[in-house]
Order: sequence, then C-alpha cells, then structure tokens
Amino acid sequence: MISVERCDFLIVGGGIAGLSATLEAAKYGRVAILTKSKIGETATTKAQGGIAAAVDSIKDSTQFHFEDTIAAGAGLCDPAAVKILVTEGVDRVRELIKMGAQFDKAETGGGFALSLEGAHKRRRILHAGDATGKEIQRTLGTKIVEEKSAKIYQDTIGIDLLLDTGRCYGIKALDIKSQSLKYFLAPATIITTGGLGQVYLHTTNPEVATGDGIAMAWRAGAEVTDMEFVQFHPTSMVQSAELRDLVAIPQFLISEAVRGEGGVLLNDRGERFMEKYHSALELAPRDIVARAIFQEMRQTGADCVYLSLKQIDPEKIKKRFPVIYKTCLERGLDISKDNIPVAPAAHYFMGGIKTDTDGKTNLPGLYAAGECAALGVHGANRLASNSLLDGLVFGHRAALAATSPLSSSDVHRRNSFPSPSEMERGDHSEHKRGMVGEDDIELQRFKLIIKSAMWNGTGIVRSKESLNRTKKMLEDVASRLDYEPATKEDIELKNLALVARLITQAALDRQESRGAHFRSDFPKIDDLNWQRHLIYSAG
Ligand code: SIN
Repeated sequence: MISVERCDFLIVGGGIAGLSATLEAAKYGRVAILTKSKIGETATTKAQGGIAAAVDSIKDSTQFHFEDTIAAGAGLCDPAAVKILVTEGVDRVRELIKMGAQFDKAETGGGFALSLEGAHKRRRILHAGDATGKEIQRTLGTKIVEEKSAKIYQDTIGIDLLLDTGRCYGIKALDIKSQSLKYFLAPATIITTGGLGQVYLHTTNPEVATGDGIAMAWRAGAEVTDMEFVQFHPTSMVQSAELRDLVAIPQFLISEAVRGEGGVLLNDRGERFMEKYHSALELAPRDIVARAIFQEMRQTGADCVYLSLKQIDPEKIKKRFPVIYKTCLERGLDISKDNIPVAPAAHYFMGGIKTDTDGKTNLPGLYAAGECAALGVHGANRLASNSLLDGLVFGHRAALAATSPLSSSDVHRRNSFPSPSEMERGDHSEHKRGMVGEDDIELQRFKLIIKSAMWNGTGIVRSKESLNRTKKMLEDVASRLDYEPATKEDIELKNLALVARLITQAALDRQESRGAHFRSDFPKIDDLNWQRHLIYSAG
C-alpha cells in the first residue's frame, strides 16, 4: 500500500534546525515534518550545556564570539558563515525568549546567568539548568503545535530522496508502524536529520543519530564535505569497565559547563593533569582535552579519568546541574562527594551535506541545516554551545531560502509530480526482504563491527594503518549488505555503513592534524597543503 502526501516544504528531522525551519516556512506554505521516532527524541532534547550568544552587550560582543568560533575552527571556518551565526544568533535567541524559553536568570541585576565553557573568552552561554535543549525543544514544539504550523509524521523514516532530472522533489519514506511506503512530494525538501554519533561504539548521541540525511543526500548525488571532522566530547560518564568494551551503552554526558563552574580532571593516580597539555587547563578546546584524557588513559592503562566537583558548593551543584546530579545519584554516585569516572565519546559531527549559508545544496530543491549540514561554520572543531545556535540560525535561513520564491516552475512542478502509479512503476527498489526479518542477530553483529572498527581505527587518534584497517572491515561489511532495506533497522544499518566509509576515507585523505582530526603519523597542522575543505560526491 503506497500513499502520497503533498506539501510546500518537507522538513526531514524534528530537532532544533527542523523546528526553526518549520516556524519560518509555515509563514509561506504547507509544511510537513518527518521524524523517525517521537517528535522530542532528538539530540536537541539531550543538549545540556546551553546556547552561546553574545546577549551581554557590556562584557561581550558578537565580535568576541566571532573570534572564539574562528579560533576553535582551526583555520577551516568560513568567516562569512560565522558572522551570520553570531549576529543573527542573537536575534534568533531573543525571539526564542519572546516565545517563552525560560533561561536561568542571574541572582542580581535581572540579566541572564551566563556560563563559561571551553575556549570561550567570555561568559555567554544561556542555559536552563542543565536541560537547555529540552527547554528549547519544548518552546519551539509548543509554538508549532499551537499555531498548527505543520503536519507532523512521527515514526517515519526517509529511505531515499526522489529525483527528477537532478532535482529533488521529495522523499520516499517508510511508515515504521504500518511498514508501508509513503511518498512525500514537495518543491523544497529541507534535511535536518542531525548527526551520526551512533557510528561509534561510544557516543553521547541518541539512538536516532545514524546519519540518515547525509546518507540519503549522498545517494542522491549531493556533495558532502569535512567528513573527517568528528568531535569527541571529553567527559562522558563511564559505566562499568566490564560492560564498556562489550556493548554500546547509551552514555551519559557530563556537561562542559561543569568544568566551567570549577570541575577538575584527575587521572587514575589522582593527579590533576591538564597543565601538561594546555594553559587553559580543563577549559582548553574540546579536542585538546579529549586527546589529553585519551593519552592519560593510555599511560595509566585505566579506562577512564575522573571529574572532581569537590571545589563547587554542593548546593550550587544541585541547583545548577539538577539532571546530572540526579542521574549520577541513580547510578550510585553523589557527585558533591564522589569523583565521576569519565572518558571521551563521539559527540558532534562538523561535516555533512555541503551547503551555502542559505542551506542550499548542489541539488535544486534540496536544502540542509543543523548538524547534518556543513557550511564551514564550525571549521575543524566546533566551539562549545554553538550547535544549538547553528540549528536555530541556519534552519531559519534554509526555510527562508526555500520560500524565495516558490517560483512559477516550482508551482507548476507541484502540480505535475508523478502519480502514485507512475512512481510504483518507476520504483525498481521493490520493497522486498531486508535483513532484520532474515536475521536480527546478524544485523546487530554488523552494527557492532562498524561501531568498534570506527572507534578503534577512525577515532580520537588515527593513522594510515588504523584507518586502512577500518576501511577494510567496512568494505567487508558493505559487501554483505546487498539487500533492499525493508525495516527501520535495515535502513539505519545501511546508512551507518555508508557514513562510516565516508568518514574513514576523508580521514585517510587528510594527511595532517587539524582540530578534531588527529593523525599520529601526521601530527602537525599543514596549512600549505591542507587549509582547504575536502569535498566528495557519489557522481
Ligand atoms: C556540553 O554541555 O558539554 C555540550 C555542549 C555542546 O556540545 O556544545
């Protein structure tokens, strides 16, 4: 049974970028949002630290925020994109506050309580306790529901983009509950599917982060870029040593804001070690802290280091970090007294579908925004708390670009999409057997091979040798995935296998170390040869 839905703007993904795009697009036409899980199950909802914006015009400025973002990006930021981020970011955040977002207020003076995170020279992180993403998701989601801005299709996963003479006109999707195909037709498709942390054994990302949008865009012929740049968050809570290397445990992030409030890192021997690595100590750029922890773990043979909050007033810990406090307590730790075992985990993807600052890809009709898009706003390493801002600003801009104008040829096209029966005839990818039905254990095994190979070979520290080993394993897996996906799990596995190969190839190609990409065989930055973006496409 195939059904067809038509709209003016098709938004694929329901995190901050998708919701921001929806609110803007709804002013101009009919919007449909697709989410493969429930609407709030996004990386946005999980974001703890906050959203960076220079709202304090006395002690901070957009110029300072610009400079910090450019410095973190290690020579690969696009200054024009960063300028837009930091300036329009302030406007978008103010709109968010007008919509009702409740950010914490300072105890005196009536302004916002702004926190500090790694590589920021000023306090500029607005936060709602340590559940900032949840508050933003609530605010945007409520507005969309109240204003009936979009038709929301939950439990719906994109399979592939629909193309006609190189132009994207929608998506072929699977309704996960009924296992039926749905075609969504729209003159403008905006991909906002977020990141791909699930390609790694250890990740702070939710289960939905399987790189679906990037994989679909790649298969359709879109360009991707900066695929080698994966950010590893330094402090993800470590469960137990036995389990850690056996299965992919959903890890729990300990926000960088904890270090911003005075948390210190100790190695297995109880020594504070960051002074060996960077003068900014625990608030050094994220890649430096992550590699320092990795190095300490290697040297001591331990599977974690420790975050100590003993310097912070216990009452402040409970007030400022209620979610972290409660979650750690549930896992047996009172963080006002006990050190937290932490280790790095895959956290954010700087690469993705190549777009301009209006979210346009190289395929007419296809736009992308947020973590799945790459426009040089984060360069080789994203500054903490710039990700929510990115989604908010560039989701809005992508929608605006997609509306201008709904040209007469688009309107014509809207009425001349293929009919369902034509699509059925043209759909050679028969909805036939997938892997889960055949062998669920086999599917889980392939997933684990991909995740382990990526963690061990394309992880925090890479080399030609480790990358080639991973590449070989991924090729072996890919050769076994010769099936038409029939279920959500099939689709995700194929997408994970694809994005893993793209990341590994780009990491092999970039023969230098820069930002989050560290090659032990090329440990230095090499501006002469490599201060440029690597761009790939299937075509
Ligand atoms: C954190 O709270 O440490 C994560 C914030 C971010 O990734 O920007």
